[in-house]
Amino acid sequence: MQIIIVDDKQQVAITAAKWVAKNIHKKVNPVLGLAAGSTPIPLYQQLIKMYQAGLISFKNITSFNLDEYLGLSTKSKQSYRHFMNINLFNYIDIEKSKTHFPTCDQGQDARSQGLLYEDKIQRAGGVGLQVLGIGTNGHIGFNEPKSSLDSRTRVAALTQQTLADNSRLFKQDEFQPSFAMTMGIATILDARCILLMATGKNKAQAVNSMINGSLSTQCPASALQQHKNTVIVLDKAAASMLDK
Ligand code: GLP
Repeated sequence: MQIIIVDDKQQVAITAAKWVAKNIHKKVNPVLGLAAGSTPIPLYQQLIKMYQAGLISFKNITSFNLDEYLGLSTKSKQSYRHFMNINLFNYIDIEKSKTHFPTCDQGQDARSQGLLYEDKIQRAGGVGLQVLGIGTNGHIGFNEPKSSLDSRTRVAALTQQTLADNSRLFKQDEFQPSFAMTMGIATILDARCILLMATGKNKAQAVNSMINGSLSTQCPASALQQHKNTVIVLDKAAASMLDK
């Protein structure tokens, strides 16, 4: 793991954007793994700026998002598809038909939907760079503690901690899903390069467990210790509990 510590979340975004740009430039048809959540928003703003300045293009990019909530209506503003549209896709030249999310609509077989997503990723050539955030309990995607390190794209139940953390994004009377379709830990580890960002003091403990803890399903992000090409970009607050 390469660990980069910078002052604040703006610097995290600038550093991470350079990695994304490098990956886009390197390949003819780059495949990006993308994440929702508050942490990558400054990165996406940075990428939009770079696109507007003519420094990068997303024309040839195929993207695969990590996860998607289950049980939302197709028009829901809470879906990660909507999140990606309003935070990135609507402002760049990516072809929306080449942006993918793991989904399982009502009545569909979750296992086949999971296999289908894995297959789509493979057929696109595999993820070149996977962008990740981290949950306060160490989850990546929606791989909550106790998820198998061999897990693949599947339906996962959200823990009370994650539901509580994410409740800030839902209005009081709004439906908050407690299930999601997520890439598995093994799916994430297949990416050739992984870029995990964490900002804020509330992530400090999870970040320390990911980097210095034992490799354990208790902290799903610790699985990244096994990956050969992972870069972790932290602000000072998220790095504040790293073992000295
Ligand atoms: C969500 C997402 C994760 C994300 C995490 C942290 O549950 N499924 O992909 O990394 O929460 O989110 P945030 O960046 O908002 O703290």
